[in-house]
Amino acid sequence: MYSRENADKFIAERKYLLKEEYRLSYHLMGEFGWMNDPNGFIYYNGEYHMFYQHYPYQAAWGPMHWGHAVSSDLIEWKYLPVALAPDQDYDRDGCFSGSAFEQDGKLYLMYTGHIITGPDKDNDYRQNQNIAVSEDGIRFEKLANNPVIAPEQMPAGISEKDFRDPKVFERDGFYYVVLGSNDGQGKGLILLYRSTDLINWSFAGEIARSDGQLGDNWECPDLFELGGRDVLIMSPQRMPAQGDDYHNLHSATYMIGRLDTGQGSFNYDRYEPVDCGFDFYAPQTTIDGKGRRIVMGWMETWETEIPTQLGHYWAGAMTLPREVVMQGETLLFKPIEETKAYRRNVYETWNMRLDGDKDMNVSGDCYELEVVFQAEQAEEFGLKLRVHGDEETVLSYRPAESQFRFNRDKSGIGLGGERRTKVELKEGLLVLNVFVDKSSVEVFIQGGEKVMTGRIYPGADSLGIQVYAQGSCSVVSFKKWDMK
Ligand code: FRU
Repeated sequence: MYSRENADKFIAERKYLLKEEYRLSYHLMGEFGWMNDPNGFIYYNGEYHMFYQHYPYQAAWGPMHWGHAVSSDLIEWKYLPVALAPDQDYDRDGCFSGSAFEQDGKLYLMYTGHIITGPDKDNDYRQNQNIAVSEDGIRFEKLANNPVIAPEQMPAGISEKDFRDPKVFERDGFYYVVLGSNDGQGKGLILLYRSTDLINWSFAGEIARSDGQLGDNWECPDLFELGGRDVLIMSPQRMPAQGDDYHNLHSATYMIGRLDTGQGSFNYDRYEPVDCGFDFYAPQTTIDGKGRRIVMGWMETWETEIPTQLGHYWAGAMTLPREVVMQGETLLFKPIEETKAYRRNVYETWNMRLDGDKDMNVSGDCYELEVVFQAEQAEEFGLKLRVHGDEETVLSYRPAESQFRFNRDKSGIGLGGERRTKVELKEGLLVLNVFVDKSSVEVFIQGGEKVMTGRIYPGADSLGIQVYAQGSCSVVSFKKWDMK
């Protein structure tokens, strides 16, 4: 029988086994075992709480628990006891993803109970929605009224099994929750429910559905207001690639539009990827005490072998928290300013002519770079990171194609590949903020217009940093800070 106590005990007794080699130093990871989606992200009583999908007993997905960590600055996290374990009839096969909210000083979690109903566990299941509450933000009690939304409350004509990942918000004096599902015929969709007391929920509409290009099931919806608009973020499964975008098995997209709670509809014109790299899924946002909308994603993808699963006793990490900013008709995703407090040992240089490869004579596996290139006549230019022998991770730009690339074919063990995205120069300039942390690279391009995230597993000696150009260009400025 799973319980929070058993999970905590198991973790405490085995933590010493964790292999440090690829553990990140300024990102949140699971304490032990497996981590996937960010859950219950909230700023509560002056601290950031992040929960996460967690299976402590192996570095592989299993009956989901909720891990829990707390931070005052979103960078340094402290683990708290496991918050939820699958210990009730209605969640016996997993406490799936969900969200947090505060009411009368108490911290509430709303999550999906997963129940396997037949021999084929991938197809025979039902999902329902539940609430747990805490007085101190640490110990959670599941409500006696659970489930608060039963599968029978799904509208007719859609999948009877996929009904998950509640994200709660308040609007116009009501509680609302968005949930992911599909029409049973290959189209993902989002359902909206309304409540006045958190216990009784009524269906308020199917607010959005895939047009056929947007995946066969939608997971982890998030809906919030930003700059007078409404933003819907969700994670479509098996979304087919479109040009350079959506090349991962599952994706994460955002739509800017308007939620009409009366009609039960969300109208939008376009959708965009939240991150254009390899490893980003199931993002969740919260608003904090400074009024910022912050997003964090799971820095992995499904159905791949993660190198730390074998012999390292852990797998899964979160991205850096990113501030979401509305700019015209798009969102910018910027590194949060708190990262600046962790900068150490600055190295700076300016106005370098570049033609060929240049070693920067600085190195590391845990740092931030801020590099401004002037494209000039170059056919291609960029950065090579974690360089040693045959290993390198390449971030490059080609002006003729207005294309930025993240290539990890020579990054070490783990999956290779390349992701590409369209980026326009600004007066000939390309501005990059790159965060490297042991086994991760996140590059924020042109002030957060695009972000690309990828996990890499280079050798411990692969520490070199190079700039390079085919043809000539210049590096207007190059700054490097060690992080932490
Ligand atoms: C997304 C997801 C969610 C689900 C959870 C289970 O990555 O599939 O839809 O709640 O993971 O761990």
